[in-house]
Amino acid sequence: QKDQIRQGRLAGDRSGAILHFLASMEADRWIAEADLLVDMAHLLMLRRREIIGDAPARALMAALLDLYEQGLPEAAFDERFEDVHAGKEAYLIERVGEEYGGRLHMGRSRNDEVATCIRIRLRDELLGTMQDILHLRLVLLEVAARHTETIMPGFTHLQYAQPTTLAHHLLAYEQAFSRDFDRLRGAFERVDASPLGSAAFASTGFPIDREYTACLLGFPKLATNTMDAVSARDFALEAMSDASICMTTASRLCEELIVWSTAFARFIQLDDPYCSSSSIMPQKKNPDTAEIMRAKAGSVAGELVAALTIVKGLPMSYNRDLQELTPHLWRAVEATRQSLPLLAGMIESAAFNVERMYDEAGGGFSTATELADTLVREFDLPFRTAHRIVGRAVRHGSLDLATLEAAAVEAAGLSLVERGLTEERVGAILDARHGVGVRNAPGGPSPEATAAAVLERKLTYGAD
Ligand code: ARG
Repeated sequence: QKDQIRQGRLAGDRSGAILHFLASMEADRWIAEADLLVDMAHLLMLRRREIIGDAPARALMAALLDLYEQGLPEAAFDERFEDVHAGKEAYLIERVGEEYGGRLHMGRSRNDEVATCIRIRLRDELLGTMQDILHLRLVLLEVAARHTETIMPGFTHLQYAQPTTLAHHLLAYEQAFSRDFDRLRGAFERVDASPLGSAAFASTGFPIDREYTACLLGFPKLATNTMDAVSARDFALEAMSDASICMTTASRLCEELIVWSTAFARFIQLDDPYCSSSSIMPQKKNPDTAEIMRAKAGSVAGELVAALTIVKGLPMSYNRDLQELTPHLWRAVEATRQSLPLLAGMIESAAFNVERMYDEAGGGFSTATELADTLVREFDLPFRTAHRIVGRAVRHGSLDLATLEAAAVEAAGLSLVERGLTEERVGAILDARHGVGVRNAPGGPSPEATAAAVLERKLTYGAD
C-alpha cells in the first residue's frame, strides 16, 4: 500500500527516523475502533444526503463492518501512513478500489476525525473511571460501616491530635472521592459534543448533516464552531486534571495505608498479594502497591502539565502539536484506571488491628482537648484558661489529678480540687471512647454520627 496523501504535493521518500518522529500509531490504537464508528456515521450521512452513490456506499459499509468485526489489520498501523486514519484509508482503497474507497473522505478532514475519535474513546474511559470510583466508594462505606465503634488516633501534622473512629477516617476519603466523581461527571458533559463535520476547520461546501452524525455517534450536542471544534483540547485537559485530582486523593489514602502498616503504627496488615518482599532481607513485607500508586499520582500530574504546556501557545486552528498531547491523555487515563480498582481491593482485603488502634487512641495526651473542654463545661472556666492549665500539666508530664491541680494553681491561680474535680472524674474524661462519643455533631467521629453518615452517604452513592 502507498501513502495516499503524499502522492500529490510532495515528492521523495522519507527516512524511518522522520516517519517514526511524525507517527502517532501507538496512541492511535486507543482510537482505532472509534475511527471505524466515525467512518460509518460519516458514510451513512454522505449517503443520506446523496453526496455519495449507492454502490460505493454499499461497498464501503461492507468493508467497514468487516473491519469493525475483525479489527484493523496491522498494516493499517504502519508508520509510513503517519496515523491510523491514513493507514485505514489506504487499506480501504486497496480493498474496494480508489473509485469507491477514494470517496469516503469527502467533506471531512483528519482534524475533525481525530477530535471525534478522541471524544468517543474518552467518553468510555470517563464512564469507566466513574464506575471505578463508585466501587471504591462502596468499599469505603462498607468497611466504615463495620468500624463505627473502632476508636483510633486522629492526627494533625502526623502527631497524635484527638481520638477518632476508623469509620470517620474512611468516610473522609469517601467524601473526597465523591467530589472526584462529580468533577468527572461535569467533564463528561463537555467531552460529549461532536466535532464531526468541521473538516479541516472551515467545515465544507458539501451539504453535510452534522446533527445526524452526532446523533448516530451518541453525541447529544455539537461542538458547534468548527474552528474551535478541531483545535480545542480543553475537554482533554479537564478530564486529565480531574483524573489527576482523583489520583491525588488516591495517593493520600495510599500514604495512610503505608503509614498505618509501619512497625510504629501496626494499625493494619495489607493482604500479601499487594505487598512485595526483599531480595536480601527475608523478613520484609513492603507495601509496594500503595507506593507505586502514590508515584502514579505524580506521573498523572506530569501528564497534565505536559498537556497544558503543549496547548498553551497554539494559535487557531489545528496544529500538529495536538497529536503530541493525546498520548499524555491516554497515559493519565490508564494509570488512573489501573489504580482505583487496586486501591479498592487493598482496602477491602486489609486486616485492621482494632485493639492496637484503641491502645494508641489516647496516646500522646490526645484526650487533652476533651479535658480542657470539660473544665470549661463543669467549672465555668474560660476556654483559654482551661487550655493553659491542661497544657501546663502536659508540660509537667502528666494529666493526673495532682499534676493538674499544681498546674491550675501555677498557671491560673485557682484550685480545681476545691471546685470538685476528682481523680475518678479525670480518668473518665481521659478515656478515648468517651471523647469520641461526645463528638456527635453531623460529620463528626462518634459512633452515632458515623453510623448516620454511612446511611446518608449510601443514599448519595445510590443516586450517583
Ligand atoms: N494524528 C493526527 C493527530 O493526532 C491526526 C490529525 C492529522 N491532521 C493533520 N493535519 N496532519 O492529531
